[in-house]
Amino acid sequence: MDIFDKVISRPGPLGKYAEKSHGYFTFPKLEGDISNRMKFQGKEKLVWSLNNYLGLGNHPEVRKVDAQAAKDYGMAYPMGARMMSGHTEKHEQLERELAAFVDKEDAFLLNYGYQGVLSIIDAMVDRKDVIVYDSESHACIIDGVRLHMGKRFVYPHNDMSNLGKELERAKKITETTGGGILVITEGVFGMSGDLGKLDEIVKYKQQYNFRLLVDDAHGFGTMGTRGAGTGEAKGVQDEIDLYFATFAKSMAGIGAFIASKREIVNYLRYNMRSQIFAKSLPMPMVIGALKRLDMLRNEPEHKEKLWTIVNALQSGLKENGFNLGNTESCVTPVFLNGTVPEASNLTYDLRENYDIFCSIVAYPVVPKGIILLRLIPTAMHTLEDVEYTVKAFSDIKSKLDSGEYASKDIVDVGHL
Ligand SMILES: Cc1ncc(COP(=O)(O)O)c(C=O)c1O
Repeated sequence: MDIFDKVISRPGPLGKYAEKSHGYFTFPKLEGDISNRMKFQGKEKLVWSLNNYLGLGNHPEVRKVDAQAAKDYGMAYPMGARMMSGHTEKHEQLERELAAFVDKEDAFLLNYGYQGVLSIIDAMVDRKDVIVYDSESHACIIDGVRLHMGKRFVYPHNDMSNLGKELERAKKITETTGGGILVITEGVFGMSGDLGKLDEIVKYKQQYNFRLLVDDAHGFGTMGTRGAGTGEAKGVQDEIDLYFATFAKSMAGIGAFIASKREIVNYLRYNMRSQIFAKSLPMPMVIGALKRLDMLRNEPEHKEKLWTIVNALQSGLKENGFNLGNTESCVTPVFLNGTVPEASNLTYDLRENYDIFCSIVAYPVVPKGIILLRLIPTAMHTLEDVEYTVKAFSDIKSKLDSGEYASKDIVDVGHL
């Protein structure tokens, strides 16, 4: 069979919806400055789907520093991979500052979070080692695990007794192979907003010898007294052996980092294929990240504002009978019951008639019959936005419950 014919006939689980939903449900174009209000198809929407938690993405000071750095250095400098010719003092400075902030000895910059996690896993384990990971882990963890040549065991999401069983199995295997165990979880689970049970996971360290890798993409900047993440919030930062976060969320940029003991970070510097064989982060991204980190550390008002909005939104929705699952973070999932066509009708109604833009997740990403609307509050939102949204959600829920979205063919842009 011709490869092109194959992929055209099998476009993939999301690709099969492309024809009808492209530009609306998938690949929508949000225009204008990054904010709580942006334009979609020419009309202003209240946007709840950007991970711009602290509102730094369009902060005037950040924009100024980004623009100046682009003017001073251009987008190309430095050229080449860090190891060969793409290394600078600013890259090192950012690594030092990140490490100090998350209480680790050293840190290493990564060009992208997704590739970074994949490559950290790849560098840390070999065929003798066993990986034990949470079933709701982000795709970058799943794909990193896919690269692993040895055994891997998955435990049901946050199920600690099951983790114990998998660790027991892993221990038996490593006793014969002579390998080690790597446990991987997220700090804040990006879909459901619940926290990895880091405090309970680390208790197993007394019984089992393993190293813990935490992907804290959504926790960095939002969790803990200083915003140093979920490890700080749970008081177990020291027990996290490999602490990962991306710049794509609170830092509103691009890039990521891994922090750990000095020897381990040095090992990663020399062994992570995603960094050795890729160009280094451009200077404006590094200087921009230094500015963002400075604001994250020294201007607590952004996190305070964020949490005012989070608390108002989550309590407002709960008071109105919404099921928010087990979220303990800013990620605000709203679980509704309905079919996939109902999900698209409802989203369309929300977007066109209430001017609210939020992300929607339906089957097959969540079980059949569940509709997940995912709201991401930010420091840019206002209490009026919250009030308006809670009211709109109450409206759409009554319409859903009364079967309105099932009976009416509201959507003319295809189904999700
Ligand atoms: C939990 C988690 N890990 C990793 C990533 C990937 O990070 P990046 O966007 O920097 O590639 C994301 C999403 O961006 C994420 O949500």
